[in-house]
Formats: sequence, C-alpha cells, structure tokens
Amino acid sequence: MSKTVLVLASRNKGKKREFELLFNGLPVEIKGLCEFQRIPEFEEEGSTFEEIAINKAKFVSKALDLPAIADDSGLMVEALNGAPGIFSARYAGKLATNGQNNRKLLKKMEGKENRSAIFVCSIAISKPTGQILTYTGKCPGVILHKPVGTSGFGYDPFFYYSPLGKTFAQLSVEEKNRVSHRGQAMRRLKDDFQKILTWLED
Ligand code: IMP
Repeated sequence: MSKTVLVLASRNKGKKREFELLFNGLPVEIKGLCEFQRIPEFEEEGSTFEEIAINKAKFVSKALDLPAIADDSGLMVEALNGAPGIFSARYAGKLATNGQNNRKLLKKMEGKENRSAIFVCSIAISKPTGQILTYTGKCPGVILHKPVGTSGFGYDPFFYYSPLGKTFAQLSVEEKNRVSHRGQAMRRLKDDFQKILTWLED
C-alpha cells in the first residue's frame, strides 16, 4: 500500500520517533525536516499552543508543498496567570536548561497557595492549501515545592499528578503517555485517523 508522506515540522529526532510510533502500522510515512534541503528557518509565531502548532505546520506544508504535522506544548500555572505557557521551553531565557526553567518556576511560586497547573499539547496537520486539522490534550496537576523522581524531562519532577499519586518524573514512558497532555492529543488524532487520510487525499 502506498504511504502518505507527512512532514514533521521539527528537527528533533526524539519527536520524530514519537510520531513514527503514533503512526506505526498505518499508511503514513513521517519525514523530518532534516530530510529536506534549503527549508528556511522559522520562528514560533502565535499566542496559544494551538496557534503556534498551526503556524509551524502551515509554514512547512507551504514551503515543501506537502502535508505537514507540528506540535506545541507547555505548562500553564494558575497562580502565574498561565505562565510559563508558550514560553515553557525558554522560561528562564532563550538557551535556558530544564534546571534553570524549574528554578525560575519555583521562585515565582514562592508564597503562592494555589499550586494548580495544567500541561497542554496541541498538534496541527496542514495541507499545502492552508487547510488545517488540530488536536489538543490537557492534563491537570499540582506544582510541588521540591523535585520528586528522575524520569521524563522539563517540568516533570515538579508536576504532581494526583490520580496516580506521583509526579510525571516517577512514571514510566508508557504510564505517562496514558495520562499526559501529549498522549491525549495523540490518541485523539489516532482515533480520527480514517478521516485524516481521506482529508489528506481530497
Ligand atoms: P515545545 O517543544 O516547543 O513543545 O516545548 C515544550 C516545553 O514545554 C518543553 O521544553 C518543556 O519545558 C515543557 N513541556 C512540555 N511537555 C512537557 C512534559 O510532558 N513534561 C515536562 N515538560 C514539558
């Protein structure tokens, strides 16, 4: 069976593997940006996760004249009016490490009683015509005062997920995928897969 090519709007090899896994067994071939030459660099544009994912997917799809897929995700903390939000990866600066971002988060949370937060992930698929499909997943949690656990990445050691009584950094990849914002967005996309294929070929 011939496969539909979807270009992932990212140069991150880990992300590519995640999407390949998502489409495993389905007639889709994921290609990373690294497989194409001379694609111009692009800045993340937009004020929500969904807008940023849409803009990334649209840009790559138009530039390559192929369908493209992109995601954007981050942490929104209630007491910080939704920060770090779309700036999650660079909360403490453009080249900030996870440790620096986490330290800034802890500092901002000093004295805050409300420690509710939510992880959000949006995935967008774009056709070269500019038509778009989007899928979003959200996962609520609580920001701890100290890190717990060693797995995962980013804000995981501070993100306590009450239904499992653990932080995201205490979960295996499979356990995290079952409940996480990214896992939920990906499952929504997968549930819609037949519709997506017809839409792409239309
Ligand atoms: P993106 O790669 O532009 O979507 O940036 C996502 C950023 O949000 C990451 O660098 C992390 O700081 C944060 N983030 C998103 N998802 C997670 C997660 O599952 N665990 C921990 N941090 C996350």
